Amino acid sequence: MKRRDFLRAAGIGAATAIASPLLRARSTATIEGNRLRIPREWTGGGLEAAVTQTEVWPGETTELFTLGGIWPGPTIRVRRGGTLDVAFTNRLAEPTTIHWHGLIVPPAMDGHPKDAVAPEGSFRYTFDVANRAGTYWYHPHPHERTAAQTYRGMAGLLIVEDDEEQALDLPRGVLDIPLVIQDRYLNGARTLDYAPTSSQRLNGMLGDTVFVNGTPDAYHEVDAGLHRLRVLNGGNARILRLAFSDGRRFSIIGTDGGLLDRPYEVSETYLAPAERVELLVDFSDLGAAEESALVSLPFGTATVPEQQGYGLTVLRFVGTGASGHTRPAPATLASLPPLGAVGEVAHTFMLDTSPIPREGHHHRINGKVFEMDSFESWRLTVGRPEVWEIVNNHTMPHPMHVHGTQFRIIDRDGAPASDPRDRGWKDTVQLDGLTSVRVLVSFDHTGLYLIHCHNLEHEDDGMMLNFLVEAPTGVDADANLPTEMDLR
Ligand code: C2O
Ligand code: CU
Ligand code: CU
Repeated sequence: MKRRDFLRAAGIGAATAIASPLLRARSTATIEGNRLRIPREWTGGGLEAAVTQTEVWPGETTELFTLGGIWPGPTIRVRRGGTLDVAFTNRLAEPTTIHWHGLIVPPAMDGHPKDAVAPEGSFRYTFDVANRAGTYWYHPHPHERTAAQTYRGMAGLLIVEDDEEQALDLPRGVLDIPLVIQDRYLNGARTLDYAPTSSQRLNGMLGDTVFVNGTPDAYHEVDAGLHRLRVLNGGNARILRLAFSDGRRFSIIGTDGGLLDRPYEVSETYLAPAERVELLVDFSDLGAAEESALVSLPFGTATVPEQQGYGLTVLRFVGTGASGHTRPAPATLASLPPLGAVGEVAHTFMLDTSPIPREGHHHRINGKVFEMDSFESWRLTVGRPEVWEIVNNHTMPHPMHVHGTQFRIIDRDGAPASDPRDRGWKDTVQLDGLTSVRVLVSFDHTGLYLIHCHNLEHEDDGMMLNFLVEAPTGVDADANLPTEMDLR
């Protein structure tokens, strides 16, 4: 008999329920909070950016910026090798773009700020989907407006499927749950207006309230069995330290660029802004009305919610008592090529934060602030992997993101990266204060891409660089040469 069954049998379940915040039993008829919203799927055709009055808190409407009229935007599901064709229209009173975060698309389709779509303008985003099956996302990327527009509601998931992943016996349908986790700074008001203070510009916009799929105080009912959680940290600046309130272990099965080679069992995982993890969690032991909450554990010295590292409840899972997916998780998942020997560092990025702004900016890469019309031309060659080193010279963490690629993490501070979240294909890598990382990158297309911090306040402050990928000598630009990392 499990402990709580014993307690219930002994008639002291109610007392335990009050004493233990970890396992609270109550009738499902009176679950507190709001049922988790699952964004509808995009069914093709158009996608509009607009100001909308949306129900965020039950019974009232809130002014948001939305894609497809909802927060988060509709989930786009595509097959690897298929074509995505989105007729985008901008009904906002300001320019915007859509960036397909993590997808390897030609530069013209990448939603670069120079390609901003003017108010009432439109643009057709169309490209072949080359990425492996995985959880990607889309969000705006206009010059100095990315943080504000994303904060106000413009972001959605893009799920790629492929044969390798579809052949696995993973939980499907309602057991495959998208979770877009976003914190917002309400300070007592129910508005998503965006007005960062100078310290919020320095540290990033850290919220005091968590939304999952746009749902405040969310719960989700689960059957007894295995679930697949596709988690996006869609916050502007918040680093999550995900775990369950009852300490239950779970497996990491995928990262930014899709599935890992096998499940890695952990009791917690960090997740920086823009990163994704796919998790398998087993709720077989969760009886009717029993709860287990996904939380962000505290770290560091935070004393109030709007600080980095403050502990937060993310989403309460409530048992239905029904039996669900009870087959075991697959023992192996996807082919993940070993890294092998890598070359010398080809390019180094020095991240630099000055708490007192210099020339109006706090954050720089290699001493530079983003300029739309200048770019680094390193004679990067399409299809030839090279080693990049990113060095964080300050105590502030930075989640660094590269467009146009899925890269691999070689090591951190010179030691092989052991965290399961570092093992797979990545497009965003968290750098804690005073640390460095080496990554192996490769590009499939020629043209202009970005590297930037995905703390969106840092990005808009200019912590971003353009770089140009060129063709090998004697080959036409954008010939889409096969890549040596075609293993993905
Ligand atoms: Cu998710 Cu350049 O961004
Ligand atoms: Cu991106
Ligand atoms: Cu940063």
